[in-house]
Amino acid sequence: MANSFSLFLLLPLVFLGIIATATSDEYTAPEEKMTHLHFYFHEIYAGANVTTMVVAVPPGTNSSFTTFGALVVIDDMLREGPDPSSKLIGRAQGLVAQASQEGSALLTAFNFVFTEGEFNGSTLAILGRAKLSEPPVERSIVGGSGKFRMARGYTEARVISSKDGYFLMEFDAYVTHY
Ligand SMILES: *[C@@H]1O[C@H](CO)[C@@H](O)[C@H](O)[C@H]1NC(C)=O
Ligand SMILES: *[C@@H]1O[C@H](CO)[C@@H](O)[C@H](O)[C@H]1NC(C)=O
Ligand SMILES: *[C@@H]1O[C@H](CO)[C@@H](O)[C@H](O)[C@H]1NC(C)=O
Repeated sequence: MANSFSLFLLLPLVFLGIIATATSDEYTAPEEKMTHLHFYFHEIYAGANVTTMVVAVPPGTNSSFTTFGALVVIDDMLREGPDPSSKLIGRAQGLVAQASQEGSALLTAFNFVFTEGEFNGSTLAILGRAKLSEPPVERSIVGGSGKFRMARGYTEARVISSKDGYFLMEFDAYVTHY
């Protein structure tokens, strides 16, 4: 007993020693830049080729996106313009949870995965609350990859329309990154 206790006390010290030697390199951070992106978020929620799925609702409730506790997975399209045939520039992949007992307010956790142009292959991690009835919907950019390493910033979104199984939102993203 005494032996295993002292081992527990020692372990953190051993790890600290390893970390101290592993991070001793000096590193000069590159210049940060600010990028503004403007695009449209297209979602097909009914009919053929839906890009969003209600994957769970609390037991005993109906399978609706608006039910408190509903969990939704999306693989939506990011396009240059509002037209469904405008150029695809990426996908919005992630989770949406109906997280308010009063009215609809969503917890959203998305990766914006860019597939065109300068940011092809780069991603942005978006986390935030979305009360779609109160534009602009502001969410945090909490990180990124590729060209968006060390990203932080925010997005602003406005619902343009939601009808005939098609949901359209306009997005501005303001990103600080390396
Ligand atoms: C759904 O996707 C299939 C395969 O890509 C395509 O042939 C079909 O036209 C699409 N349907 C609609 C309504 O877009
Ligand atoms: C589910 O939907 C049906 C049909 O709209 C309705 O009759 C029923 O009360 C609903 N159940 C719950 C738990 O909301
Ligand atoms: C984006 O990157 C992928 C992977 O490197 C590549 O296959 C694709 O052709 C690129 N697309 C464009 C439009 O540059």
